[in-house]
Amino acid sequence: MIYLDNAATTIRKPPEVAAAVLAAMDSFGNSGRGTHCEALSASRTIFETREMLARLFHAPRPERVCFTANSTEALNIAVSGLLESGDHVISTDCEHNSVLRPLYRLAAQGGSVDFVPTDRQGRIDVGNFASLLRPETRAVVCTHASNLTGNVLDIRHIGAFCHAHGLLFVVDASQTAGALPIDMEQDHIDVLCFTGHKSLLGPQGTGGLCVGDGVEVRPWKVGGTGILSYSQTQPEPYPTRLEAGTLNGHGIAGLHAALAWIEKTGVDAIHAREDALARQFYEGVRQLPGVTVYGDFAQTLRAPIVSLNIGDMDSGEVSDELEQRWGIATRPGAHCAPRLHQALGTQEQGAVRFSWSWYNTAEETDAAIAAVKTLAEEAR
Ligand code: ALA
Repeated sequence: MIYLDNAATTIRKPPEVAAAVLAAMDSFGNSGRGTHCEALSASRTIFETREMLARLFHAPRPERVCFTANSTEALNIAVSGLLESGDHVISTDCEHNSVLRPLYRLAAQGGSVDFVPTDRQGRIDVGNFASLLRPETRAVVCTHASNLTGNVLDIRHIGAFCHAHGLLFVVDASQTAGALPIDMEQDHIDVLCFTGHKSLLGPQGTGGLCVGDGVEVRPWKVGGTGILSYSQTQPEPYPTRLEAGTLNGHGIAGLHAALAWIEKTGVDAIHAREDALARQFYEGVRQLPGVTVYGDFAQTLRAPIVSLNIGDMDSGEVSDELEQRWGIATRPGAHCAPRLHQALGTQEQGAVRFSWSWYNTAEETDAAIAAVKTLAEEAR
């Protein structure tokens, strides 16, 4: 199998990730729920994982790294815990439903949302944020990179805009955490939402949000925390404030091993390798007759994603052919990114998304180019 669906989830991980999950299952007690060796062992690994994430994202403090099951949960916590009826939010047409649906729900509850539009290459003009500003605007919530085109949004510029206008800045780093440099401090990010199972190379069921200093997120979920048991309300201190219930300690142990591998390898080296593979593919397919590629490849910084269509073939049919004839795994359809598909004019056809990880090779990429070429010739 040639696995090119890493934007959905990475399958190949450093071998120490699965080993760490197994070891944790054999040895971890419940973090924060006791002082015996097994509970402390879980607590130590979990705290070290917070420290590693804080280093990776330049988050203010490890205590402000709160674990969730994935980015969607983190984004729900951020939107519902920071915003309320009457608040206005600016977002973009590049968003995944994990951003859109919490914002649509906020709008249904008396808030309001405007979206910075994209052009036919899925690019946004960051200058458009200012034109959507209103007296009741309270936040910008947006992705760091589109899961459909791989286009990167200039979060440094958007963060500076938020800082200048006193807006909260919530970033969805689902496609970039571990794959591109992120600096919460320099980018003025108030809440960074990430998932563990994509380019962080950890297990599914891990993720979280890093909360900036001075940012107060109301808890979405309340319950057992192992501290302040006689209080009728959720404890105030982070990370407990946002972490009711037993954590996914086994998964977090795997994420810990993945982060150790990322620290050793370096985000810049990971990005350089993945970017080279994605651009190799882009160069190989972009001029094939009948092939339409979406996205802005003039961008120097991109997520390793290339989406395309072949003639008017349904994207699901192309993806099935790739899988059945060449063993190439891709993701077709709408990618939970409805506004961007509408902007690209692909809401009926969808698109076939190819996405790379560190573990892909130039040979696999050549095989994918050859497969697209054959399908394009057959379609003519
Ligand atoms: N959000 C994931 C994707 O883009 C699942 O495929």
